[in-house]
Amino acid sequence: MDPKQEVQAQSVEAEPKAKVKEILSVQDEEDEQMKKRHLNVVFIGHVDAGKSTTGGQILFLSGQVDDRTIQKYEKEAKDKSRESWYMAYIMDTNEEERVKGKTVEVGRAHFETDTTRFTILDAPGHKSYVPNMISGASQADIGVLVISARKGEFETGYERGGQTREHVQLAKTLGVTKLLVVVNKMDDPTVNWSKERYDEIESKMIPFLKQSGYNVKKDVSFLPISGLMGLNIKTRLDKSLCSWWDGPCLFESLDSIEVPMGDPKSPFRMPIIDKFKDMGTVVMGKVESGTIRDGDSLLIMPNKDHVKVVAIYIDENRVTLAGPGENLRVRLSGVEEEDILSGFVLSSAANPISTVTEFVAQLQILELLDNAIFTAGYKAVLHVHSVVEECEIVELLQQIDPKTRKPIKKKVLFVKNGAIVLCRVQVNNVICVEKFSDFPQLGRFTLRTEGKTVAVGKITAL
Ligand code: GTP
Ligand code: MG
Repeated sequence: MDPKQEVQAQSVEAEPKAKVKEILSVQDEEDEQMKKRHLNVVFIGHVDAGKSTTGGQILFLSGQVDDRTIQKYEKEAKDKSRESWYMAYIMDTNEEERVKGKTVEVGRAHFETDTTRFTILDAPGHKSYVPNMISGASQADIGVLVISARKGEFETGYERGGQTREHVQLAKTLGVTKLLVVVNKMDDPTVNWSKERYDEIESKMIPFLKQSGYNVKKDVSFLPISGLMGLNIKTRLDKSLCSWWDGPCLFESLDSIEVPMGDPKSPFRMPIIDKFKDMGTVVMGKVESGTIRDGDSLLIMPNKDHVKVVAIYIDENRVTLAGPGENLRVRLSGVEEEDILSGFVLSSAANPISTVTEFVAQLQILELLDNAIFTAGYKAVLHVHSVVEECEIVELLQQIDPKTRKPIKKKVLFVKNGAIVLCRVQVNNVICVEKFSDFPQLGRFTLRTEGKTVAVGKITAL
């Protein structure tokens, strides 16, 4: 079975599509796999930073791509006048992606280190595909932020309007708690493993990461790599190449990241990102809280369809139960595939997810189009877990001082870029969400208009 074809043939109707393509999967002994923890890691960063190249290199170095395939990709890349793109072809599997040298759909692949099974989600960097990046990041536990050290490239990514900034802010809001910042292309002739360039990038990134809400000491680490050459990825750097780096390689860093996992005992919630027909109805998603078992009776919210769990799969392996953080396919009885949309949530029947058409949220305004003002009546597209829905701000309740984080007494009618404001948000259709304080992953969201992220927020009351 080719899972990628299957997924693509049966995309969900909601716009934009939560596109996912499956690259490769390891068929290790099930027992071994289940003992290790599992983490979803999203690769983010500006267009052409080297996300797909680094992802492809990881698969190559972990023995999942043979030399013959690499040679084939080298030839194909050369024929397309994209010689240096061959490593990216491991992740970029569509013709469109290979011709343009740009990821469009989130690529998905698996690899393992000593302690962890990783699912890589290779997000697109191009600004047109930010909705796909959001869908990738919303499934992730940790992020690898890829930055190009090549002269001029770091600068363009970091500028206002560059995707380095937008991706970091989105990742934080979407629940990516830990970031590994890889300074890539260190081999490039304009860089040549320069400590000065590395330090420059690190020192410019730190204040910005802080502003975006990351605790740089606890939640962020930096390391230099060359994705294309495969350096400092699986093994540490050779001193003869780079004398000043004493730190770990990428695999070691990924291995040592600790992430608080959702509670396996809390009520079950799995937002649905995709669905298809295969001997019944199969839904895909990531468990955000609770545990699912074979034979469970659950609800699909908001429609309250009663369903029974027929089978649970992690990658190709059938399992009898699964907990927080796992990416699953779940075969269900009691519901037709047509009756499910992406954004619906597979929920505990005794304690189902809340359904609303209105909620109160604390919003941080990032960048309004043409410096517009933000006031009641403002319309945008709401992205919360796998939901994409038109929304309207119906009332501004209170402004919050960004410095002191205390409420400002004065009545608020409009706010501008950078403001933090409490407001009431309305959607046309019923959606499944939770308060941020109860289920962070199901209560944080982004607002976008005309293809740009204008605000990030947390739901404070339902
Ligand atoms: P999008 O998917 O479009 O966002 O780009 P990406 O971040 O996935 O970048 P991709 O891996 O497609 O690489 C873009 C270009 O950068 C290709 O020409 C790569 O060969 C080149 N590149 C990536 N990593 C390195 C590196 O470590 N060193 C050098 N010199 N070039 C690199
Ligand atoms: Mg890419």
